[in-house]
Amino acid sequence: MLLARSFEGLEAAASELAAEFPKSRVIAEGLDVSQADAPAKLDALLARHGLYLDVLVNNAAIGLGGEFAEVDQARLDELVATNVAALTRLTRHYLPPMLLRARGGVMNLASLASFVPGPWQAPYFASKAYVLSLTAAIGRECSGRGVRVCAIAPGPFETRIHRKMRTSNTYYRLLLPSTSADRMARLAWRSYRLGRRVVVPGIINGAFAWSARAMPYEILLPLVSWLMRPRARPIRGMAARMKAQERIDRTKGPRDFDVDH
Ligand SMILES: NC(=O)c1ccc[n+]([C@@H]2O[C@H](COP(=O)([O-])OP(=O)(O)OC[C@H]3O[C@@H](n4cnc5c(N)ncnc54)[C@H](OP(=O)(O)O)[C@@H]3O)[C@@H](O)[C@H]2O)c1
Repeated sequence: MLLARSFEGLEAAASELAAEFPKSRVIAEGLDVSQADAPAKLDALLARHGLYLDVLVNNAAIGLGGEFAEVDQARLDELVATNVAALTRLTRHYLPPMLLRARGGVMNLASLASFVPGPWQAPYFASKAYVLSLTAAIGRECSGRGVRVCAIAPGPFETRIHRKMRTSNTYYRLLLPSTSADRMARLAWRSYRLGRRVVVPGIINGAFAWSARAMPYEILLPLVSWLMRPRARPIRGMAARMKAQERIDRTKGPRDFDVDH
């Protein structure tokens, strides 16, 4: 079952999946997971289709870029409601029945951002640090009880989120390797099936996460700030990546609020 607030794109993704996995039933439903009654609404949707939830994937997140002192308060509230509160509420709601059945699991989307404070995207990075910490701790609590709890912490992959976070003209987008969303989803699922608790896909991303944990903040913060800061003038070598981003924005039909500030 695929869930999102808007139906555009979701139905197309459902048809693609149905074509690739003809033996599976694929259902697309509209749901705003940031609302407090989202678990109850999801229960009702599952019951309507005669299903129960075996694996919960908390993928939904809001990206937000810019200097913290200038960030729009409503968007900030939306980020906390989606990236932190919704993920926590849904995990808390669906974990007990999984533990009773001693099967199923939770896959929470963290990020490379989980390992460092992120100037110019401070709330997003902080929310992803929360996701990693919560998920790794719950994973430990569930150890040996038949339920997998896994945090996926990917580096960049190509989606609409980068434009929302104003990363289109940053050294981070130029220097960190990026992959397709499709490849990332396959890697994430394989790692989940292998029973891994914290997964950083890719050798360079893994090295980044490892060195970020080893580095003192005096060195780490200026480095991350340099990588994340949006530049006024175009960075040489970014043209191809910016064109690819424009193509993604066009095909995925950006929502009203997906505008660069
Ligand atoms: N792309 C990257 O480079 C990258 C790197 C590391 C980690 N991640 C993580 O990977 C996950 C997916 O990111 P993405 O890049 O695919 O972002 P995206 O392109 O912005 O997609 C986010 C998805 O979440 C849905 N969503 C957002 N708010 C929602 C809500 N309140 N209720 C239900 N659905 C909601 C959106 O659909 P609607 O807007 O229609 O609701 C959309 O389908 C996120 O957790 C992100 O933090 C991404």
